Amino acid sequence: MPIFRKSQNTPDGVDPGRLPRHIAIIMDGNGRWAQKRGLPRTAGHAAGAETFRTIANYCKEIGIEYLTVYAFSTENWRRPPEEVGAIMRLLGRYLDEALEDMERNRIRIVFFGDLEPLTPELRALCDRAHSASMRYSEAQANICLNYGGRDEITRAVRALARECAAGERDPESITEADISARLYSAGVPDPDLIIRPSGEIRTSNFLLWQSAYSEYYFTDVLWPDFSKEELNRAIASYQARSRRFGGV
Ligand code: IPE
Ligand code: IPE
Ligand code: MG
Repeated sequence: MPIFRKSQNTPDGVDPGRLPRHIAIIMDGNGRWAQKRGLPRTAGHAAGAETFRTIANYCKEIGIEYLTVYAFSTENWRRPPEEVGAIMRLLGRYLDEALEDMERNRIRIVFFGDLEPLTPELRALCDRAHSASMRYSEAQANICLNYGGRDEITRAVRALARECAAGERDPESITEADISARLYSAGVPDPDLIIRPSGEIRTSNFLLWQSAYSEYYFTDVLWPDFSKEELNRAIASYQARSRRFGGV
């Protein structure tokens, strides 16, 4: 688990003592960003990958321990095969570059999602990026790839059902913690702040279980245009809220 280290690089307007430990982002709006410029949608995905690089490094710089990003959902396979193929190729290129830059960025990379349907080449890259970055403990980036909140919960339920069927546990003994421990995010604290750019006001199957008490921040900015300043605004908005978790 990353060790919390207070950063010297806190931006103006952000209280360094009350930073969210975990920020999650639905990286949406790549296609519209490209269409607005008369470019193919894939150009938007390429620009979005650059934004991810910038924001992931910035989060580490200011002292955010965990960043979780939604890169490809279980529903995104519904897109035209050309677009899916282009997204997968871009991911491969991104991971190649991340492997080269690893020592400079020093961010632990973890994947949330079912990597089974990916090509063996892409899966191998994911494995390499994960194992090569395991030694970094300051900041962790969770990349949600072929991820769906419902799929994640379904898998946890299946795992528990198997244990019950094998007589290893009593169904009555199942707790919320048992479910959390069987999600991709096992061991990672729930996101404090979830950001969705692009103007859509929905979760689109992102971190359904983990978001029970997350604070949301929605902005019309399209993901490729998302900046460090916009992240600072999201954090400042988060810090102005009162989190009650059902209490008073
Ligand atoms: C998010 O951008 C990237 C993925 C879902 C892979 P979109 O491609 O959804 O962009 P819009 O929403 O069409 O603008
Ligand atoms: C959510 O965006 C998934 C990712 C950003 C990876 P979508 O563009 O797929 O969501 P909808 O279809 O607008 O709900
Ligand atoms: Mg979208």
